[in-house]
Amino acid sequence: MKIIALVGSPKGMNGNTAALLNIVLEGARNQGAETETIAIRGKEIRPCLSCDACHKHGVCPQKDAFNAIKAKIMDADGLVLASPNYIFHVSAQLKAFIDRCCGIVHCVGFEGKYGAAVVTSGGGEERPIASYLNHFLAITGAIPIGSVWATMSQVEGQNFPDNVRKKAFSLGENLVKAWKSKTTSSKYNKVSSQFEERMRSLILWRKQEWPYEYKYWKQHRGLK
Ligand SMILES: Cc1cc2nc3c(=O)[nH]c(=O)nc-3n(C[C@H](O)[C@H](O)[C@H](O)COP(=O)(O)O)c2cc1C
Repeated sequence: MKIIALVGSPKGMNGNTAALLNIVLEGARNQGAETETIAIRGKEIRPCLSCDACHKHGVCPQKDAFNAIKAKIMDADGLVLASPNYIFHVSAQLKAFIDRCCGIVHCVGFEGKYGAAVVTSGGGEERPIASYLNHFLAITGAIPIGSVWATMSQVEGQNFPDNVRKKAFSLGENLVKAWKSKTTSSKYNKVSSQFEERMRSLILWRKQEWPYEYKYWKQHRGLK
């Protein structure tokens, strides 16, 4: 299993989020996965311009790191999204990546991949952010396996307590096990299938304006 992990902290691999993510990836590698971590900080993913080019032509015209990162994810079996809590949400760096995935969302383009979410905060409230990340994964067609988070005010340096380490390591192991056994998730299957129906209607409605996505749906998703 090939896993790409994206870290949205401006501190990149030196931050708390990457430290927690590393434990998840240790667990994944322990089950035989190959992992690659990309810190978005240094890669410059600019915000979406709402130009509709991805919907019309299937490619984002912005000349930055997005298309190369997207290609790596398309080639992988798993995607782990990791972010610090920035005022009750993901960091702007990760949100820019998520927004740039609008064409992938319309085409349910990560279908068949497995995912997980990692969040750290100073003082708490990580759960809604982890849920948001897993919801994003689900609407792209990926299957979210779970999440792990840590409240850093309760952690000495980056020495996560045993229960957090254990949860993070197991999450990585479970991600690989789920991929191997092709496990599905009843909770997220419902989210994915309802969202897919929404996208089907949207693409039909906008078929003149978004020829790439209309053609994609006809060729790959059985749109009449
Ligand atoms: C701009 C900014 C906003 C933040 N907002 C919150 C917040 O709303 N709640 C919270 O608990 N921590 C907040 N924090 C703290 C970070 O979430 C926390 O330190 C996190 O572990 C940083 O991860 P990193 O080292 O990977 O960047 C914020 C930090 C920054 C720099």
